[in-house]
This record gives sequence, C-alpha cells and structure tokens, in this order.
Amino acid sequence: MSIRFIEENKIFKLDSKTSTYIFGVFEGNYLVHYYYGAPIPDTDVEQLRIRPGFASFCPDSPSARVFNFSPDVTPLEYSTFGAGDFRLSAFAVKNSEGNKVTDLRYVSHEIYSGKKPIPGLPSLYVNTEDEADTLEVLTEDKVTGARVTLVYTVFKEYGAITRCVKVENASDKPFYIDTVHSLCIDLPGNDYEMLDLYGRWVKERSLDRYPLHRGIQSIKSKRGSSSHNHNPFTALVSKGANEDYGECYGFNLVYSSNFSIDVEVDGFRSSRLVMGINPEGFSWYLAPGETFYAPEAVMVYTNKGLGEMSRIFHRLYANNLIRGKWKKAKRPLLINNWEGTGMNFDHDKLVSFAKHAKDIGLEMLVMDDGWFGKRDHDNSSLGDWYVAEYKLQKGLSGLIKEVNDCGLKFGIWFEPEMISPDSDIYRAHPDWCLHTEGRDKSIARTQYVIDYSRKEVRDHIYSMMYDILSNNNIDYVKWDFNRNLTEVSCAQLPPEKQGEVFHRFVLGTYEIMDRLTTDFPHILLENCSGGGGRFDPGMLYYSPQIWTSDNTDPIERLTIQFGTSMCYPASTMGAHVSANRRTGYETKMNVALWGSFGYELDPDKLTPEEKAEIKDQIALYHKYYDVIHYGELYRLITPFENEFHVAWELVSEDKNEALVTVVEIKRAYDEFFMLRLKGLDPEKLYEIEETGDTFSGAYLMNAGLNLTHRPHGDGLSYRVHLLAK
Ligand code: GLA
Repeated sequence: MSIRFIEENKIFKLDSKTSTYIFGVFEGNYLVHYYYGAPIPDTDVEQLRIRPGFASFCPDSPSARVFNFSPDVTPLEYSTFGAGDFRLSAFAVKNSEGNKVTDLRYVSHEIYSGKKPIPGLPSLYVNTEDEADTLEVLTEDKVTGARVTLVYTVFKEYGAITRCVKVENASDKPFYIDTVHSLCIDLPGNDYEMLDLYGRWVKERSLDRYPLHRGIQSIKSKRGSSSHNHNPFTALVSKGANEDYGECYGFNLVYSSNFSIDVEVDGFRSSRLVMGINPEGFSWYLAPGETFYAPEAVMVYTNKGLGEMSRIFHRLYANNLIRGKWKKAKRPLLINNWEGTGMNFDHDKLVSFAKHAKDIGLEMLVMDDGWFGKRDHDNSSLGDWYVAEYKLQKGLSGLIKEVNDCGLKFGIWFEPEMISPDSDIYRAHPDWCLHTEGRDKSIARTQYVIDYSRKEVRDHIYSMMYDILSNNNIDYVKWDFNRNLTEVSCAQLPPEKQGEVFHRFVLGTYEIMDRLTTDFPHILLENCSGGGGRFDPGMLYYSPQIWTSDNTDPIERLTIQFGTSMCYPASTMGAHVSANRRTGYETKMNVALWGSFGYELDPDKLTPEEKAEIKDQIALYHKYYDVIHYGELYRLITPFENEFHVAWELVSEDKNEALVTVVEIKRAYDEFFMLRLKGLDPEKLYEIEETGDTFSGAYLMNAGLNLTHRPHGDGLSYRVHLLAK
C-alpha cells in the first residue's frame, strides 16, 4: 500500500515514486500537515510534529494550553474560517444562524486500493486497482453537522496525488457552503517562485514567473469557464528551478468553470496554497441529508525540475484522464474549413474541398460554423441545430455521402451552450438564456448563453444534436464555446440557490458531454472555446484534444504551445497548419506537428508546389506520429527565455527515437551553437537521419548537436530525427 496510517503517532504517510506526503491527527483531533516533498523513510517522522505552538495574537485552541497548539501558526491540512486560523480558508459554511464559523476535526478514515469516480464531475481514473490507493478522511464540524471527507489518491508510479472533497449535511438544518476548496497545502518557508499561465484570446497560456511576496497572490476566473486569461494551473518552485533542476510542486484543477488559486505568505514565512471553485459568486445551499462534491485537484512533486514535472502530468493525463477509443487509437488527419471559407460555403464548395483534401492525403473533413439555421454571420441561428438546406442543397446526409465517397471521414461543429437572439429557438423560448430579471442582457459575439443549469433546456439541445449525430455518418465533433457567462441567475431556482448557477451550469455541460461520448463512443470530440479558452483537465476528460488557440501563426504559437505543455501533453493540443501570414509551410508544419496535427486552409487555393509540399508533410506526420503522441517532451530552449530561437524534443519511451525541432524566431548571430539534447540513453548510438552522422547519447546530451551551420533566417525551422542503431 502506498498509503499507511502509522498508528503510534497517528500519521498518514502517502508515498509515490517521487514524493512523500504526510499529515496526521493531532491532539484535539486537528488535522495537521507535516510534510510534502521528496521521498523519506518512515523513521524519524515523529520529529515533524515538533512545531511552535503559540505566538502573540494567534488564538489558542480552546484546549490548546494542554497540548500547545494554535490553529494560526500550525500547518493545517484543511483550514477553516473563523475558529482561530486567520490565514486563507479552504472551507467555510454559513449556518442557519447566519454566521460562518467552521471548525473541522478528524472523525475516522478508510484506506483502499483503486479510486472512485466523483459523481457528476470529471476526474482521473485507474485502469487497474493496483495503480493507485485512496485514503478518505472524514472530518466534522460539530455545530453545523457539516461532514467533510478529504479524499486522497496516490498514483504510485507517477509521483502524483489527486485530492477531492465531499461535503454532507448530517444535521437537521440547512447550511450554505460558502467556500469549498479542493486542496489546501501549507509549505514551510516562502522561498518559492510561482508560475502561472496567463493570456487572452489568441495569446493563451504564456508563462509568468515571480517570487512569492508576503500577502496573497491569486489566479482566478469568474467567467464561467477556465478562460483564456488564466489557467487552473500553478507551480511553486524552488528559487532558480529550471527545466532540469530544482523542486517543483505543480497544481492543476480538474474543472472548467470559475476557479481560484491563492497563495498566502504569512508573517511566519509560511506559504499556504488553496485551490478550488472560486468562492466569489459561489454559495451552495445544502439541505439536511444532501451531499456536495467539489472538483478534483492534482498535485505533482518532483525535485528534478520543471521538465520532469510536466512529463509526470503528461504521463498521468495520457493514461488516467483521457478516455475512450481515442486514448490509444490514431486520430484522423483532419482539414477544417473555418480559416479557408468562414461561413461562406455550400455543398459544392465542401465537396470540392474534400476532393482536393483527399488528393493531398488528408483523412477527414470538418465542417465548421455556418451549416445550420440561417447562419451566414455570427449574429444568428445558434441553437437552431438543423441543416441550412439553402447552403447544403443535398442535405447533411447528401453532403456526408459525397465526402465519404471521396474517401474522407466527416466531422461537424456545434456550439451547444449558446443561443442567438436571432434564432427560432430564442423566439420560442426567450427565457432559456442566462439572464437576470430587470437587467439588460450583456451580449458578446452577438450571442447569449443558454441556461445549462436547467435540465429541460439542455435535454432539448441535446435531442437536436442527437438527431444529427445518430442519423449521419459523423466521426468527429468540435464543441465550441465562444463567450463567457454574464447575468448569471436561474429563473427556476429559489433565491437561496442562486449562488449555485455557475457550478450547475458546468455540471450541465459535463452531463451533456458525458451523454454525447457515451451515446457515440466512436466520435472524436474536440473542445474549443474561441481557441483555447477552456483548455483544462475537466474538458480533457471528455475530449482527448482541444483546439489550442485561434492563433495559427507558427511564431506566436510557440509561447502558446510551450505554456500549454507545462501540464498538458502534446496529444491534447489541437495544432493546424493554416494559410496565414509569416513563415513558409515548413515552419507552420514543424510547429503544428507538436500536437494533434491538421490543416485549416482552402485546398482549392493551393498551388501545385504547395500541394506537393503538403503531401510530403503528411508523410512526415505519419512517420513521427508515435514519437509525438506517445513520446516524452523535453523543452530544450523556451521562447520565455530566448528571443532568437526555441527548441523542443520528443523522445520515445524506449529511447530509441527522438525528434528535435528548432525554430529561429529571428536571425541569431551566434557563431557557435551547440544544442544539448536530453532524455536519450547515454549508452546508445544515435544516427541523425538527415545527415547520416552517428553520435553517442552521452555526446549528444553532454556536448550537444553542433548546429553552427544550420540554415539561418527569421522564422526558419528544421527538424533533427534520431534513431538508435
Ligand atoms: C471559434 C473557434 C474557431 C471557429 C469559430 C467559428 O472562434 O475557435 O475555430 O470554430 O469559432 O465561429
């Protein structure tokens, strides 16, 4: 068992390949956090219990004089509001008297092999029971009757722990859950740097890094999605940690709506991180006997640098988050018509698209936005999920048949959570969109958001999608989400439940995604939100790939893909070659290859030379598919540190193959450029396919590849393919 309860000192010890995590039951049944870091043996852990008990102005526990304890100076496993700990609260309930004082104490625990799913929410899973062990610790607030179960699962081989929280109301009075974080962790000291992924539309997930300062630093979303602007990921790393060295604690929330991550450094130089549903705008009314589940949080620890932290996330997500047929099956090579045609297409145009696409070796045509209702612009028809026969003159099945006859599979676009004011569905049900009585409705991209907290509304939308998907030969769905939530309230819920609507909305989305992937297990679902506005592990549970960004400029994609790779594997990043400005097709391909590759252009407009070039690219895509989709990533030179060139490398699990890509952002005038590779076997000999030269792994990793005479030029790029001899 990777989880043990050491009876003599009441300590829980959770051991994974790269980490040990320790907390225990202290006097007074407080749950105290003792350690999270590199693996340590069972001996000596008693020493971890020695802590200062008091400080002036830090309240004692009522019984603390006896056992020397103040909740305000002790690292706590799951902090609560109002009972002596003034730092960030992980949990608070507002009771029927209207106050929020909450005090959770240990009651009992259970340890078992495997892992249970979380009802209604996405979460990591085990393939076999022996992959992971789970600890459930029951705590209770005696006054409110809130029974809170802290759930920990140790993925032994990965150096990862997942956590989630279940709240039950065991009293005879209702209460409101005011704050329920999924994770709380107290780390000693404040010598950490914090990393986060920030951005905006077309510039998602840039990497920011800064030393922790005293006070509170936060990353949040209250957009009703995880958002382009912040991602539910952070890492606390030791000062100076880099790709290869240093301690890294990575945290990621399996959630696609309002989240918050706060880190507080207190006056005693202790750092507390809490992560979970954003308490702003959230309040959950829990009646007696009811249960609430908070989303899952993932923690990764390694002392081998950021690169290893990312690889742990990648392995874990590829094996224990991504599900279904497309976890292992080779994904079809697609062409999407969006950048090629926008909404300006008809039957003949798409069939001609398909013919040309087949000629160059593509495998699937994805028909994007514009095929339904009266959709010629983005100002109408969302919600009218029936075919625009004035555009698709032979109907959807007629179109699909001809596309299939060309030898291509067919994919389709939906935006199921949205409604246009100019739509039949809105005219019939104007109250189906999110709105607040008496206020104007904010409009964005000329659309409103459907109230997915309402079951009958989402059932109606799903039945339209079901009709399309069950009556046609469709192999892929792109699920889009092109605005954020405003005026969030639900006409059907009583006032005490209005604080639930954001969360109920995303539960509704998850439910429909679950139905879709259960009813149509063969369909490859790709998520999208104006590009990568909902790129999070919650979405990856349903869709193995997500459109990374609407920005397909290969140079601007570099920061986006490097940032995304902090915790999300290459196979999840939708990446297409488009006809956009800057750089030739070679660099477009080299950048897009680092992801779920495809094309987003009008093949009718390609010159014969471009077609020939793309045919060659497609051969390369097939050749490198396995090393990219199943390989281990090494970020060799990142765009956050080098303005001239960037480089990354994917290495097969058996270390027999590696693909290195270098992009010269702008002309570098280095006279001498040695690129040290990583992750190879030092004992093996590797042949460089492009030159026929052979080097040892040890040479390539220590001295490096001599790229001094590489081709130079703004936006140029090249690959180096290595095979072990
Ligand atoms: C979003 C997506 C695009 C495209 C358009 C269609 O912006 O990110 O890829 O599907 O919507 O309206």
